[in-house]
Amino acid sequence: MFVTGSSHSNDAKSMSFMQAFDVAVEHTFNRFISPLPAIWKIKRFFNIGSEKKYKQAIETVNQFAMDIIKSKEAQTDSMTKEDDLLSRFMVSSQDMGLNNEERRGFLRDIIISFVLAGKDSTATALTWFFWLLDGHPHCKDLIRKELTNIHPPNVTFDELKTLHYLHAALSESMRLFPPVPINSRLTVHDDVLPDGTFVGKGWFADYSAYAMGRMERLWGLDCREFKPERWLDGNGVYQPLDQFKYPVFHGGFRMCLGKEMAYLQMKYVVVAVMYQFEVEVIGGGGTVEKMVNPPYSLSLLLSMKNGLPVKLKKR
Ligand code: HEM
Repeated sequence: MFVTGSSHSNDAKSMSFMQAFDVAVEHTFNRFISPLPAIWKIKRFFNIGSEKKYKQAIETVNQFAMDIIKSKEAQTDSMTKEDDLLSRFMVSSQDMGLNNEERRGFLRDIIISFVLAGKDSTATALTWFFWLLDGHPHCKDLIRKELTNIHPPNVTFDELKTLHYLHAALSESMRLFPPVPINSRLTVHDDVLPDGTFVGKGWFADYSAYAMGRMERLWGLDCREFKPERWLDGNGVYQPLDQFKYPVFHGGFRMCLGKEMAYLQMKYVVVAVMYQFEVEVIGGGGTVEKMVNPPYSLSLLLSMKNGLPVKLKKR
């Protein structure tokens, strides 16, 4: 989204950036769930072990983002709000009363936030989607049928919007396997939740989109079943549900800014893959029986344990 064009040296840089990014994310999560935070704090103090690796990863990530900003600054004397997203942030940040270093720090954090938000979330969602689809051949057939109404490989934005069943199947897949399975907030002041629950200053308030997606009270007795139809009205038109019942993209003021883009990207990838290939999951896809103990591994995102091995057959 931010960088255009690529040279060999850029590719090499992004490799080490991507690795550093993954290390930083994993380490942040481990810090977060650590039962004895004193241990990582001691390691940080002496700059040893995993904390040393984390520090190096953060430096690589920051440097990569900073290089993007500097190259953008060098390229564009006449940046306008019509340019790409980073240019828009650069133009807006000129009126924020920040000095040059602070402004670059702000832009660096924006870049990192967008990479964090968009890099693995859609990939994770698609992994579970293809796993579930393989275990539900009738849903695969319905998606294929829907794809006959559009004209891959040159699919337009408007055509993607007509894919109601696919939209429903992606939503249903994320209900069962939300890419961001748990979300936390730290309270700044004492507060009372709408249901009367007291939360004190400095407490964590967490919710699990994963658990909520499997609650009979919210989704009915068939909550463990993959049923895209629950998102469609009698005419097969997709019906969005309450964001607080389905907090996969969070809810309220800090809701995901990339939701629509994420759906668009995922639909585009599914169309491109299903148009060209038959996807067969090695070891079988996600059936209702496998929903009881699905192969997940928990980090900031809900990844599939050991990835998704597939056989692709050209159609
Ligand atoms: C299936 C894919 C995605 C899912 C499930 C998802 C989910 C979420 C969730 C749960 C949050 C709230 C995080 C929090 O505040 O704790 C969030 C925030 C955010 N997402 Fe996404 N996201 C996805 C894709 C994307 C993409 C593709 C982008 C853009 C490139 C994006 C941009 C953002 C941004 C900028 C925020 C921060 C919003 C704010 O704090 O005001 N997301 N997302």
